[in-house]
Formats: sequence, C-alpha cells, structure tokens
Amino acid sequence: MNIQDMKKQFVKDLGQTGSQKDLEVLRVKYLGKKSEIYSSLRSLGQLDHEERKVMGAALNQLRGEIEAGLKSQEYELAQKEQTVLDFSEPGKKFEIGHKHPITQVYEELFEIAKTLGFSIADGPEVESDWYNFEALNMPKDHPARDTQDSFYIDESTVLRTQTSPVQIRYMEKHKPPIRIVVPGRTYRRDNDMTHTPMFHQLEGLLVDDRVTLADLKGVLTVFAKGIFGQDRKVRFRPHHFPFTEPSIEADVSCGLCGGKGCRSCKYSGWLEILGAGMVHPNVLKNVGLDFKKYQGFAFGMGVDRITMLKFDIDDTRMFFDNDLRFLEQF
Ligand code: PHE
Repeated sequence: MNIQDMKKQFVKDLGQTGSQKDLEVLRVKYLGKKSEIYSSLRSLGQLDHEERKVMGAALNQLRGEIEAGLKSQEYELAQKEQTVLDFSEPGKKFEIGHKHPITQVYEELFEIAKTLGFSIADGPEVESDWYNFEALNMPKDHPARDTQDSFYIDESTVLRTQTSPVQIRYMEKHKPPIRIVVPGRTYRRDNDMTHTPMFHQLEGLLVDDRVTLADLKGVLTVFAKGIFGQDRKVRFRPHHFPFTEPSIEADVSCGLCGGKGCRSCKYSGWLEILGAGMVHPNVLKNVGLDFKKYQGFAFGMGVDRITMLKFDIDDTRMFFDNDLRFLEQF
C-alpha cells in the first residue's frame, strides 16, 4: 500500500472507533511490530541513499499523523463518556462543616457580652513576664506562679498562662470607662482528662468610678444563666487571686442532678465555672490609674471547661483530636 492510501485507510478506520479499546486495535494495526509502517521503516536500508531519504521522511510523517490522530480521538471519546448523564443516579451528598463546639460557646459568650455593653479586645499569646505576671501583682517569688506552670521562651518571655495580661495592655491605652471581654488561647504545662497544654479563656474587665462587687455578681449571673440556662442557680465563694481583691469563684448548679449531687459534680451539686474579683489597687497603680478614683472588676473563665460542662463531655482532649465522629455531635 502506498502512503497516501494508508493515510486514507487510517482516517476511515479512525472515524469508526467508538471506544478506547477500538483505538488500541488501531494503534497495533498501524504502529505495532506487525504493521506495514514498521516493516517499511525496517527495510529502508535496502533502498539507495536518495530513495531512503524521501521514503524515510514520508513514513515518519505518516507515523506522526497517526499518533496525533489516535490522541485526538482518544480525547474526543473521553469527553463523550463524561457528558453521558444518568438522571436516575442519586445526587452526591455534600459534606457541610459546622463550627467547633468551643467556637459555638465563644459566640454565645460574645452575644451575652454584647447585650451587657462589652466590646471585644485581644492581645499577644507570646507575652512578657511583666504583663503575664509582674504587672498583675504576681512578683517573681509569688507562690501563685506555681499553680500556672508556664512555658518559658526565655527568662522574661512566656506563652501567656492567662488572658489577664490583656487587662494591663488595654488599661495602658484606654481611659475608663472600660468594658471589654478578651477571648484567646492560653498555655500551661498540664495534660490530662481536664487539662490540655493549650486551652481557651474569656477574660472580662470593667473599670469605672462607681463599680462594686454587686455589679460583678450581677454580670456573672447574666453570663452563667445565659450559657447554662435561666433555671440554673449561681453561687459565689471567696477565693484568692493576686490581681483581684476581694476575689471570688462562681459555681453553677449541676445540670445533670439539679443540685442533688452526682458523679458529674463530684456529689457537691455545684460546678465551678470561673474566677473573678475587684481589680487590685496595685494593678490599677501599675497602669497609672488613680485607685482612689477608679475601681473595677475582672473575671476569667475557661471556655473549654464551660463547653465540657455545657455538653457533658468528660475528656477535654477530644476537642483537639479532630475526630469527626466526636465533633459532628455538636
Ligand atoms: N486569670 C485567672 C486564671 O487564669 C482568672 C481570673 C481572671 C481571676 C480575672 C480573677 C480575675 O485563673
């Protein structure tokens, strides 16, 4: 067969292919070891120099055209396969994500804060010893530092152990009246069922010239009932923090037993939810505020802990395992 005929035959054959399999058959027929092109190429050596040059070029061109033809037909067929729609096939379900339970609780807390007129502030997670401890009335040898075992970056730099340093940073820049909540990550060297090395807090700070402990109790009650439900009871106990005086802790009545006592509340009927108090005069002094004129209150809650209590989760580490079987429940 001469080259022109071969080309015509190929184009005809190609037009009749309907599948990838047909194409493979053509490939073997035209380019395989038993094909005419292959044997012609092999016998080029028997021709004289001029003939060989002309024939070789023509055969190679034909081979190139056949390869290109096969390729474009392969593409055409693949396109066709894809556009065959089966309307009876069930639709594909899209997986839609949702907010992490801790984010959900944060947003609820922000909502409550907003109704009380608080705005949101933030500060750095890598913090100086001054802001994290000293300015908060926790000098170097203060025993309370031991209860907040820290990750030190260097001698005077820590991963903040609490969001309280933002109290200082904010009061340095803003004059009273001050009314802020501060969400953020905090870090302590702890790791067990109820503690992870990284956890979340929400700090609150209010400073003005007529602030009392009664105001604090009112605000905390609104937060506690807003998060856990209006039917829950709230109580306050005296406590100690270096940066507040007096200091208190707030408990909410256990939702599982209604306050009668069960395993969840360690048979006390109450669940501890946060620490708080009236801003210590030394703290006001450290930011240059006249502590005779201004008072304030501050509070700090563990958002992971509150989320655990709210959803009755017993292992805080689950929040960070990224196991969808867990996260999808909230
Ligand atoms: N920073 C304290 C803690 O992490 C909580 C707290 C904040 C207490 C503000 C009193 C006032 O334990």
